[in-house]
Amino acid sequence: MRIAILQTRPVFGEVARNLSRIERLCPEQTDLIVLPELCTTGYQFRNGRELRSLAEPSGGPTVEFFTRLARQHRCAFAFGFAERAGWRIFNSAALVGPRGLVGLYRKVHLFDRERDLFAPGDLGFRVFPLGRWRVGLMICFDWIFPEAARTLALAGAQLIAHPANLVLPWCQQAMVTRALENRVFCATANRVGGERRLPGRGLRFTGGSRIISPRGEVLAEGSKNKEQILLAAIRPALARDKRVTRKNDLFADRRPELYRIRQPGARWQRLTRS
Ligand code: ACM
Repeated sequence: MRIAILQTRPVFGEVARNLSRIERLCPEQTDLIVLPELCTTGYQFRNGRELRSLAEPSGGPTVEFFTRLARQHRCAFAFGFAERAGWRIFNSAALVGPRGLVGLYRKVHLFDRERDLFAPGDLGFRVFPLGRWRVGLMICFDWIFPEAARTLALAGAQLIAHPANLVLPWCQQAMVTRALENRVFCATANRVGGERRLPGRGLRFTGGSRIISPRGEVLAEGSKNKEQILLAAIRPALARDKRVTRKNDLFADRRPELYRIRQPGARWQRLTRS
C-alpha cells in the first residue's frame, strides 16, 4: 500500500478554499491519503453557534467531495471534520473511498476547550476494511491514552490513521511507542500554522506529521511549519506479526487478568508500607 499524508494549513472558516487546496495537493498513485483533524474548517471555534454553522452531517457535501476525489484518484481518504448529528456536534474522522463513507469515528478524548464545544464520541474504537488492509481511526489527543491505539490494534487494525491538530510537543515522539507497543503502522497527519481567534489564546500547530512502522521506524516526517506531502510504501504483513522475539508475542503474552485494579486490602497495604 502506498500511503500519503497531506500536512496542510487550513484557513479558519474557509471550507471551499481549504478543500480546493487539498484537491491541488493530492498526490497520484496512492491508496490512502490521511489529512489533519478538522482539516476543512480550522480548529479554534469562538462558540457553539459558530461551530454549528460550519458542521456537517456525515452524508454532507464534504464527504461527497472526498468521495468524488477518491473516485478520481482511485484511493481512499481519512480526514477530520466537524460532524453535525441532530443536536450534537462531534469532532469526527471519516474514512471515505470511491463508493462513499467506509467508516466514521467520533473523538473520544476531547482536548481542552473542545470539551465546551463538542459531544464526546459515542462510537468507540472501530476498525474498517480497506482492500487487504484493516484501518483504525483515532484523533489527535487520543494519543495520550494508550488504550485508544491498543483497542484498535486488538480489534485488528494494521494501520492507525490519526488526523491531528497538535499544540503540545509530545505526540510525535510518543507515536513511535504506540506503533511499537502494538506493532502497527501509524500515520499522524498534523497541521501547520496558527489561529488567534480568541483574545490571549493564540494556538500554534506543531506539524511534524509522521508515518511510523510497526518496528518504530519513522518512514516519513514533515517539517514544523510547511505544508507538505509525505509518502511511504507499507506492507500489511509486518503489522500482522506481533512477535518481538522467538518467545514473545505482544498479544499472546498479555495478562489481562492481572491488569484489573484491585482494591488495596490490608495485606497489600502491609506489603507496601515502608
Ligand atoms: C488536540 O486534540 N487537538 C490537541
